[in-house]
Amino acid sequence: MSDEKAAALRVLLAPLPETLVIAEAVLAAWPDHAAYLLKSFGARSPEMLASTELAATAARKLMAGNEARFAEGYRWTCDQLRDEEIFFHREGRYRLSTFAEADAEVYSNHDYMSRYVDGLLLSQILWFNHAGTFEMFANRVLAAADAPFDYLEIGPGHGLMVYLAARSPLSRSLAAWDFSAVSLRETGAALATLGVDKPVSLVEVDILKAEAPDRQYDLIVISEVLEHLEQPEVALAFLRKALRPTGRIFINVPLNSPSPDHIYLVSTPEELTALVEAAGFKVERLEMFATQGRKIESALAQRISVSTGIVAVPASNDRF
Ligand SMILES: C[S@@+](CC[C@H](N)C(=O)[O-])C[C@H]1O[C@@H](n2cnc3c(N)ncnc32)[C@H](O)[C@@H]1O
Repeated sequence: MSDEKAAALRVLLAPLPETLVIAEAVLAAWPDHAAYLLKSFGARSPEMLASTELAATAARKLMAGNEARFAEGYRWTCDQLRDEEIFFHREGRYRLSTFAEADAEVYSNHDYMSRYVDGLLLSQILWFNHAGTFEMFANRVLAAADAPFDYLEIGPGHGLMVYLAARSPLSRSLAAWDFSAVSLRETGAALATLGVDKPVSLVEVDILKAEAPDRQYDLIVISEVLEHLEQPEVALAFLRKALRPTGRIFINVPLNSPSPDHIYLVSTPEELTALVEAAGFKVERLEMFATQGRKIESALAQRISVSTGIVAVPASNDRF
Protein backbone atom coordinates (compact mmCIF):
# COMPACT_ATOMS: atom_id res chain seq x y z
CA MET A 1 0.00 0.00 0.00
CA SER A 2 2.80 2.38 1.03
CA ASP A 3 4.64 1.37 -2.16
CA GLU A 4 1.67 2.31 -4.33
CA LYS A 5 1.31 5.67 -2.59
CA ALA A 6 5.04 6.30 -2.88
CA ALA A 7 4.93 5.51 -6.61
CA ALA A 8 1.99 7.91 -7.11
CA LEU A 9 3.85 10.58 -5.12
CA ARG A 10 6.93 10.20 -7.34
CA VAL A 11 4.80 10.71 -10.46
CA LEU A 12 3.20 13.81 -8.94
CA LEU A 13 6.55 15.29 -7.90
CA ALA A 14 8.48 14.43 -11.07
CA PRO A 15 8.24 18.03 -12.36
CA LEU A 16 9.56 19.33 -8.99
CA PRO A 17 13.08 17.87 -8.70
CA GLU A 18 14.12 19.64 -5.48
CA THR A 19 10.88 18.74 -3.72
CA LEU A 20 11.26 15.15 -4.92
CA VAL A 21 14.73 14.82 -3.36
CA ILE A 22 13.29 15.93 -0.01
CA ALA A 23 10.31 13.59 -0.33
CA GLU A 24 12.65 10.68 -1.16
CA ALA A 25 14.73 11.38 1.95
CA VAL A 26 11.58 11.33 4.07
CA LEU A 27 10.27 8.16 2.44
CA ALA A 28 13.62 6.47 3.17
CA ALA A 29 13.37 7.46 6.85
CA TRP A 30 9.64 6.87 7.12
CA PRO A 31 8.06 4.72 4.36
CA ASP A 32 4.61 4.80 6.00
CA HIS A 33 4.43 8.55 5.54
CA ALA A 34 3.74 8.13 1.79
CA ALA A 35 -0.04 8.32 2.13
CA TYR A 36 0.14 11.54 4.15
CA LEU A 37 2.50 13.12 1.63
CA LEU A 38 0.39 12.06 -1.33
CA LYS A 39 -2.65 13.80 0.19
CA SER A 40 -0.64 16.87 1.09
CA PHE A 41 0.84 17.30 -2.40
CA GLY A 42 -2.22 16.06 -4.29
CA ALA A 43 -4.29 18.91 -2.81
CA ARG A 44 -1.96 21.69 -4.02
CA SER A 45 -2.72 24.19 -6.77
CA PRO A 46 -0.11 24.71 -9.54
CA GLU A 47 0.86 27.98 -7.82
CA MET A 48 1.36 26.22 -4.51
CA LEU A 49 3.45 23.50 -6.18
CA ALA A 50 5.62 26.21 -7.77
CA SER A 51 6.19 28.04 -4.47
CA THR A 52 6.85 24.67 -2.79
CA GLU A 53 9.63 24.02 -5.31
CA LEU A 54 11.05 27.47 -4.58
CA ALA A 55 11.07 26.71 -0.84
CA ALA A 56 12.54 23.24 -1.51
CA THR A 57 15.35 24.73 -3.62
CA ALA A 58 16.25 27.07 -0.75
CA ALA A 59 15.86 24.31 1.85
CA ARG A 60 18.20 22.00 -0.05
CA LYS A 61 20.90 24.66 0.02
CA LEU A 62 20.42 24.93 3.78
CA MET A 63 20.54 21.15 4.21
CA ALA A 64 23.88 21.01 2.40
CA GLY A 65 23.68 17.31 1.62
CA ASN A 66 22.32 16.34 5.05
CA GLU A 67 18.83 15.40 3.82
CA ALA A 68 18.84 12.13 5.79
CA ARG A 69 19.45 13.95 9.11
CA PHE A 70 16.71 16.47 8.36
CA ALA A 71 14.32 13.67 7.43
CA GLU A 72 14.98 11.96 10.79
CA GLY A 73 14.38 15.29 12.54
CA TYR A 74 11.13 15.66 10.64
CA ARG A 75 9.90 12.22 11.67
CA TRP A 76 10.88 12.85 15.27
CA THR A 77 9.09 16.23 15.23
CA CYS A 78 5.90 14.63 13.87
CA ASP A 79 6.08 12.07 16.71
CA GLN A 80 6.28 14.86 19.31
CA LEU A 81 3.33 16.63 17.74
CA ARG A 82 1.23 13.46 17.74
CA ASP A 83 1.59 13.20 21.52
CA GLU A 84 0.54 16.84 21.88
CA GLU A 85 -2.48 16.21 19.66
CA ILE A 86 -3.66 13.38 21.87
CA PHE A 87 -3.54 15.69 24.88
CA PHE A 88 -5.25 18.52 22.97
CA HIS A 89 -8.15 16.39 21.80
CA ARG A 90 -8.64 14.93 25.26
CA GLU A 91 -8.37 18.18 27.23
CA GLY A 92 -9.38 20.85 24.70
CA ARG A 93 -6.36 23.02 25.48
CA TYR A 94 -2.64 23.25 24.83
CA ARG A 95 -0.62 21.33 27.41
CA LEU A 96 1.64 24.24 28.34
CA SER A 97 0.52 27.80 28.93
CA THR A 98 3.53 29.76 30.15
CA PHE A 99 6.74 30.78 28.49
CA ALA A 100 8.72 29.38 31.45
CA GLU A 101 7.29 25.89 30.80
CA ALA A 102 8.01 26.04 27.05
CA ASP A 103 11.48 27.39 27.76
CA ALA A 104 12.30 24.50 30.09
CA GLU A 105 10.93 21.80 27.76
CA VAL A 106 11.87 23.20 24.37
CA TYR A 107 13.85 26.43 23.94
CA SER A 108 16.56 25.61 26.50
CA ASN A 109 16.70 21.94 25.54
CA HIS A 110 19.50 21.82 22.99
CA ASP A 111 18.88 18.22 21.95
CA TYR A 112 15.21 18.88 21.43
CA MET A 113 15.76 22.13 19.54
CA SER A 114 18.26 20.76 17.05
CA ARG A 115 15.92 18.00 15.84
CA TYR A 116 12.85 20.23 16.04
CA VAL A 117 14.43 22.98 13.92
CA ASP A 118 15.40 20.40 11.25
CA GLY A 119 11.87 19.03 11.29
CA LEU A 120 10.27 22.44 10.95
CA LEU A 121 12.33 23.30 7.89
CA LEU A 122 10.96 20.22 6.12
CA SER A 123 7.42 20.94 7.32
CA GLN A 124 7.59 24.12 5.24
CA ILE A 125 7.71 21.94 2.15
CA LEU A 126 5.82 18.83 3.24
CA TRP A 127 2.80 20.19 5.13
CA PHE A 128 -0.02 21.59 3.03
CA ASN A 129 -0.87 24.21 5.65
CA HIS A 130 2.70 25.54 5.85
CA ALA A 131 3.12 25.49 2.06
CA GLY A 132 -0.22 27.32 1.76
CA THR A 133 0.69 30.32 3.88
CA PHE A 134 4.10 30.48 2.18
CA GLU A 135 2.41 30.65 -1.23
CA MET A 136 0.00 33.31 0.09
CA PHE A 137 2.96 35.36 1.32
CA ALA A 138 4.85 35.02 -1.98
CA ASN A 139 1.94 35.62 -4.36
CA ARG A 140 -0.57 37.78 -2.52
CA VAL A 141 1.54 39.73 -0.03
CA LEU A 142 5.00 40.31 -1.52
CA ALA A 143 3.87 40.29 -5.16
CA ALA A 144 1.16 42.83 -4.28
CA ALA A 145 3.77 45.43 -3.29
CA ASP A 146 3.73 48.25 -5.83
CA ALA A 147 6.23 50.66 -4.25
CA PRO A 148 9.57 50.37 -2.43
CA PHE A 149 9.06 48.96 1.05
CA ASP A 150 10.85 48.75 4.39
CA TYR A 151 10.44 45.21 5.77
CA LEU A 152 10.38 43.98 9.36
CA GLU A 153 9.89 40.35 10.36
CA ILE A 154 9.48 39.06 13.90
CA GLY A 155 10.75 35.53 14.60
CA PRO A 156 12.18 34.75 11.13
CA GLY A 157 13.24 31.14 11.89
CA HIS A 158 14.99 29.71 8.84
CA GLY A 159 14.63 33.04 7.12
CA LEU A 160 12.74 31.82 4.03
CA MET A 161 10.35 34.78 4.12
CA VAL A 162 13.16 37.31 4.62
CA TYR A 163 14.88 35.59 1.70
CA LEU A 164 11.81 36.08 -0.50
CA ALA A 165 11.48 39.69 0.63
CA ALA A 166 15.16 40.31 -0.17
CA ARG A 167 14.61 38.92 -3.68
CA SER A 168 11.92 41.50 -4.34
CA PRO A 169 13.38 44.42 -6.30
CA LEU A 170 11.10 46.68 -4.25
CA SER A 171 12.54 45.81 -0.81
CA ARG A 172 14.41 48.95 0.31
CA SER A 173 15.48 47.84 3.80
CA LEU A 174 15.20 44.54 5.66
CA ALA A 175 15.12 43.86 9.40
CA ALA A 176 14.47 40.70 11.40
CA TRP A 177 14.02 40.55 15.16
CA ASP A 178 14.04 37.55 17.45
CA PHE A 179 14.47 37.16 21.19
CA SER A 180 16.81 34.22 20.68
CA ALA A 181 20.41 35.03 19.78
CA VAL A 182 20.85 31.41 18.62
CA SER A 183 17.89 31.65 16.30
CA LEU A 184 19.11 34.97 14.88
CA ARG A 185 22.52 33.49 14.19
CA GLU A 186 20.86 30.67 12.27
CA THR A 187 18.79 33.15 10.29
CA GLY A 188 21.95 35.12 9.44
CA ALA A 189 23.81 31.96 8.37
CA ALA A 190 20.83 30.82 6.27
CA LEU A 191 20.58 34.16 4.48
CA ALA A 192 24.30 34.04 3.70
CA THR A 193 23.98 30.47 2.36
CA LEU A 194 21.03 31.56 0.23
CA GLY A 195 23.15 34.33 -1.26
CA VAL A 196 21.13 37.28 0.07
CA ASP A 197 23.29 40.27 -0.73
CA LYS A 198 21.05 43.07 0.55
CA PRO A 199 21.93 43.98 4.14
CA VAL A 200 19.55 42.51 6.73
CA SER A 201 19.53 44.06 10.19
CA LEU A 202 19.26 41.14 12.65
CA VAL A 203 18.40 42.40 16.13
CA GLU A 204 17.80 40.63 19.43
CA VAL A 205 14.43 41.91 20.62
CA ASP A 206 11.77 40.38 22.84
CA ILE A 207 8.65 41.61 21.12
CA LEU A 208 6.78 41.55 24.44
CA LYS A 209 9.28 43.97 25.96
CA ALA A 210 9.97 46.20 22.95
CA GLU A 211 10.04 49.94 23.66
CA ALA A 212 8.08 52.37 21.50
CA PRO A 213 9.37 51.90 17.93
CA ASP A 214 11.96 54.42 16.76
CA ARG A 215 10.87 54.07 13.13
CA GLN A 216 8.08 52.58 11.03
CA TYR A 217 7.86 49.92 8.33
CA ASP A 218 5.75 49.34 5.21
CA LEU A 219 5.51 45.56 5.48
CA ILE A 220 5.63 43.69 8.79
CA VAL A 221 5.54 39.90 9.01
CA ILE A 222 4.84 37.83 12.09
CA SER A 223 4.48 34.20 11.07
CA GLU A 224 4.00 31.33 13.52
CA VAL A 225 4.99 33.48 16.50
CA LEU A 226 1.83 34.78 18.22
CA GLU A 227 0.87 31.30 19.44
CA HIS A 228 4.26 31.15 21.22
CA LEU A 229 3.49 34.22 23.33
CA GLU A 230 1.71 34.58 26.66
CA GLN A 231 0.36 37.97 25.53
CA PRO A 232 0.02 38.16 21.75
CA GLU A 233 -2.03 41.34 22.15
CA VAL A 234 1.06 43.13 23.52
CA ALA A 235 3.07 42.17 20.41
CA LEU A 236 0.27 43.27 18.08
CA ALA A 237 -0.10 46.62 19.87
CA PHE A 238 3.62 47.27 19.38
CA LEU A 239 3.49 46.25 15.72
CA ARG A 240 0.50 48.54 15.14
CA LYS A 241 2.73 51.44 16.21
CA ALA A 242 5.62 50.17 14.07
CA LEU A 243 3.47 50.03 10.92
CA ARG A 244 3.30 53.06 8.61
CA PRO A 245 -0.23 54.43 8.08
CA THR A 246 -0.05 53.13 4.49
CA GLY A 247 1.62 49.83 5.50
CA ARG A 248 0.42 46.22 5.72
CA ILE A 249 1.05 43.44 8.19
CA PHE A 250 1.05 39.72 7.36
CA ILE A 251 0.09 37.56 10.33
CA ASN A 252 0.19 33.77 10.22
CA VAL A 253 -1.26 31.82 13.14
CA PRO A 254 -2.11 28.12 13.17
CA LEU A 255 -5.51 27.43 14.74
CA ASN A 256 -5.92 24.35 16.96
CA SER A 257 -2.31 23.42 16.46
CA PRO A 258 -0.89 21.67 19.53
CA SER A 259 2.89 21.76 19.84
CA PRO A 260 5.11 21.75 22.94
CA ASP A 261 5.99 25.41 22.40
CA HIS A 262 2.49 26.65 21.52
CA ILE A 263 1.10 28.29 24.64
CA TYR A 264 -1.65 30.56 23.28
CA LEU A 265 -4.60 28.77 21.72
CA VAL A 266 -6.63 30.41 18.96
CA SER A 267 -9.51 28.15 17.87
CA THR A 268 -11.42 30.02 15.19
CA PRO A 269 -10.77 32.60 12.44
CA GLU A 270 -13.25 34.90 14.22
CA GLU A 271 -11.17 34.78 17.41
CA LEU A 272 -8.02 35.59 15.44
CA THR A 273 -9.70 38.46 13.60
CA ALA A 274 -10.95 39.89 16.91
CA LEU A 275 -7.44 39.68 18.40
CA VAL A 276 -5.95 41.49 15.39
CA GLU A 277 -8.70 44.13 15.23
CA ALA A 278 -8.51 44.85 18.97
CA ALA A 279 -4.91 45.99 18.35
CA GLY A 280 -6.08 48.61 15.83
CA PHE A 281 -5.83 46.76 12.54
CA LYS A 282 -8.44 46.18 9.86
CA VAL A 283 -8.33 42.72 8.30
CA GLU A 284 -8.25 42.97 4.50
CA ARG A 285 -7.66 39.35 3.57
CA LEU A 286 -7.91 36.07 5.43
CA GLU A 287 -6.98 32.69 3.95
CA MET A 288 -7.05 29.30 5.62
CA PHE A 289 -5.08 26.15 4.82
CA ALA A 290 -5.93 22.95 6.67
CA THR A 291 -3.62 20.00 7.24
CA GLN A 292 -3.44 17.78 4.11
CA GLY A 293 -5.70 20.23 2.27
CA ARG A 294 -8.81 19.09 4.12
CA LYS A 295 -12.05 21.05 3.85
CA ILE A 296 -11.87 24.07 6.13
CA GLU A 297 -15.32 23.64 7.70
CA SER A 298 -14.69 20.07 8.77
CA ALA A 299 -11.12 20.82 9.92
CA LEU A 300 -12.44 23.64 12.13
CA ALA A 301 -15.29 21.47 13.42
CA GLN A 302 -12.91 18.62 14.26
CA ARG A 303 -10.28 21.03 15.60
CA ILE A 304 -7.64 19.89 13.14
CA SER A 305 -4.79 22.35 12.56
CA VAL A 306 -5.61 25.20 10.12
CA SER A 307 -2.94 27.75 9.24
CA THR A 308 -4.50 31.17 8.90
CA GLY A 309 -2.86 33.99 6.99
CA ILE A 310 -4.14 37.51 7.51
CA VAL A 311 -3.25 40.71 5.69
CA ALA A 312 -4.24 43.75 7.75
CA VAL A 313 -3.82 47.51 7.57
CA PRO A 314 -4.08 50.21 10.27
CA ALA A 315 -7.75 50.69 11.15
CA SER A 316 -7.36 54.42 11.65
CA ASN A 317 -4.52 56.84 12.20
CA ASP A 318 -5.63 58.56 15.34
CA ARG A 319 -7.10 56.01 17.74
CA PHE A 320 -3.92 53.94 18.28
C1 LIG B 1 8.16 28.73 15.09
S1 LIG B 1 9.33 29.97 14.84
C2 LIG B 1 8.66 30.81 13.44
C3 LIG B 1 9.57 30.70 12.25
C4 LIG B 1 9.06 31.32 10.95
N1 LIG B 1 8.62 32.69 11.13
C5 LIG B 1 7.97 30.48 10.32
O1 LIG B 1 6.92 31.02 9.94
O2 LIG B 1 8.18 29.27 10.13
C6 LIG B 1 9.02 31.12 16.14
C7 LIG B 1 10.11 32.15 16.30
O3 LIG B 1 9.63 33.19 17.17
C8 LIG B 1 10.67 33.55 18.06
N2 LIG B 1 10.05 34.15 19.27
C9 LIG B 1 9.31 33.51 20.20
N3 LIG B 1 8.95 34.38 21.18
C10 LIG B 1 9.47 35.60 20.84
C11 LIG B 1 9.46 36.88 21.45
N4 LIG B 1 8.83 37.08 22.61
N5 LIG B 1 10.08 37.90 20.83
C12 LIG B 1 10.74 37.70 19.65
N6 LIG B 1 10.79 36.49 19.03
C13 LIG B 1 10.16 35.45 19.61
C14 LIG B 1 11.40 32.24 18.32
O4 LIG B 1 12.70 32.41 18.79
C15 LIG B 1 11.37 31.60 16.93
O5 LIG B 1 12.49 31.98 16.17
